[in-house]
Amino acid sequence: MIKVIVAKDYEDASDKAFEVFKEFIKPGKVLGLATGSTPLGLYARMVKDHKENGTSYKDIKSFNLDEYVGLPITHPESYYAFMHRNLFDQIDIPEESTHVPSGLGEDLEGQAKKYDEMIDACPVDCQLLGIGSDGHIAFNEPGTSFTSGTHVTDLAESTIKDNCRFFDNDISKVPTQAVTQGIGTIMKAKNILLIATGANKANAVKAMLEGPIDEACPASILQKHASVVVIVDEPAAALLQNK
Ligand code: PGA
Repeated sequence: MIKVIVAKDYEDASDKAFEVFKEFIKPGKVLGLATGSTPLGLYARMVKDHKENGTSYKDIKSFNLDEYVGLPITHPESYYAFMHRNLFDQIDIPEESTHVPSGLGEDLEGQAKKYDEMIDACPVDCQLLGIGSDGHIAFNEPGTSFTSGTHVTDLAESTIKDNCRFFDNDISKVPTQAVTQGIGTIMKAKNILLIATGANKANAVKAMLEGPIDEACPASILQKHASVVVIVDEPAAALLQNK
């Protein structure tokens, strides 16, 4: 079941996302975390809440969705570095409780399988998601099997273009592959919180919520999940028939 909340703008969407996510910021919980522009407002609120109210992450674990293949973790655009910069280094979560898939190593598929095993042993209480302009979730591009586990994947041309802004607007610098939790992995999370803001997400939001459940729109599988909250701002909700 999907509950849709329409927010006014990005800041309002981030406030509303924090209201939902904070229910899971409790000892013993496992958080599923995401990168990209979308969760930054939520992470800023989590940091503020930690600093002002002392909300602790000492007994919380986290699993991230994905990582670029071939970028060292010291590269500022690696998702490992992104998570440390924007969240982990500003809260009290122990390093060993955080997990970001590794995009480096000889046996990426073997490592991906181990990542799924770790998640199976530690089920995610709430998975945070953004959505790509092509309907992708994590790096599961259109056509990815709904039953996929964590795997290595090629990035779609549109995703490489979308992410170019993080690599000096130089398309040749954008990695072309990633390790990503699969759609099957994501669907195992007990709860899902997806945030979509901005007019460039309107088509994907419509396909996710009102289109057929089809691998052409990876996010459409969420219609089958038992507990999803989707927070959209007005521009991202613009094409919805049922608001
Ligand atoms: P964005 O990316 O948050 O940077 O818009 C979302 C996504 O591609 O999943």
